[in-house]
Amino acid sequence: MSQKIQTLGEFIIEYQSSFRYSSGELSRLINSIRLAAKVVNHEVNKAGLVDILGKAGDTNVQGENQQKLDVYANEKFIQMLTNRNIVCGIASEEEDDFISINSNDNNNQNKYVVLIDPLDGSSNIDVNVSVGTIFSIYRRVTPIGSPVSLDDFLQKGDEQVAAGYIIYGTSTMLVYTTGHGVNGFTLNPAIGTFYLSHPDMTFPNKGQIYSVNEGNYVHFPQGIKDYIKYCQQQKDDRPYTSRYIGSLVSDFHRNMIKGGIYLYPQSAAYPNGKLRLLYECNPIAFLAEQANGKASCGTQRILEVLPKTLHQRSPFICGSALMVEDVEAFLHAANK
Ligand code: AHG
Ligand code: MN
Ligand code: MN
Repeated sequence: MSQKIQTLGEFIIEYQSSFRYSSGELSRLINSIRLAAKVVNHEVNKAGLVDILGKAGDTNVQGENQQKLDVYANEKFIQMLTNRNIVCGIASEEEDDFISINSNDNNNQNKYVVLIDPLDGSSNIDVNVSVGTIFSIYRRVTPIGSPVSLDDFLQKGDEQVAAGYIIYGTSTMLVYTTGHGVNGFTLNPAIGTFYLSHPDMTFPNKGQIYSVNEGNYVHFPQGIKDYIKYCQQQKDDRPYTSRYIGSLVSDFHRNMIKGGIYLYPQSAAYPNGKLRLLYECNPIAFLAEQANGKASCGTQRILEVLPKTLHQRSPFICGSALMVEDVEAFLHAANK
């Protein structure tokens, strides 16, 4: 039997009423992200053709060099969300502070704030390897019509109403959840339309891929070292396969489809882990849980962590449920 062909636009309309707060605003917001994704995709895809590579010369708030496409993606997503007057605030990995929209008048009746990592895996751009965009959406906690405040952004991941990513890979996909499972849409570049290609994505309970930057091995906590040795051991379904792209979106996407685990633990260079809780860990954790996977900081669910600052980092362990449980058990045993 042939599967019904459905575009992202049609899917959004069909499922709008199942959103936790159904007003059409969230649908419009996801539509804007879809449009920004297409614009950024166009630029990413011609990165090798024009003189666009290299550092933009700026340094972001984490002290990292920005590359030109980071800046471009950041501008496009912010522009798209601002111009369409769809959100009341935006926070981005590439901005020092959050952006309040229409904060000077009290006309902004919008309910949602968006947090983005506009270009994830940016070190992969100049070698033609997949990169992505990650987004996370919350309902504001301050009164509608007032300027947004930091409290609107510093919410637990459990409060997310939607989250997703775009992967600019061999094909471009938009994968997202509104808390009712995870669905993936593939862009047909010839006509610029996303089609539902991966309905109801789920992690296998267990897989055979582990993704970690093993160059940092000597600096990892003992429990993580023990787990990596366990992955490499010749026993039962092991050794597992090591696969690490260095772009969270791409590593996560592959692991969700094939079964596997991604780890970015604490290390000497990054005592709290490298990944940002609000722009990377929380949205990916929400997707993971919606896809029957798990996400942990080592001691608790990522989604339960109460953020204290916008650019806070966290250790991140995410993937097939049984594999994440194994890592937690190794960490627990090493800390006894
Ligand atoms: P970003 O490009 O947004 O700074 O994120 C890069 C992140 C993540 O995507 C990736 O998995 C990780 O950093 C790679 O870090 P290492 O190079 O330290 O392994
Ligand atoms: Mn990133
Ligand atoms: Mn980034």
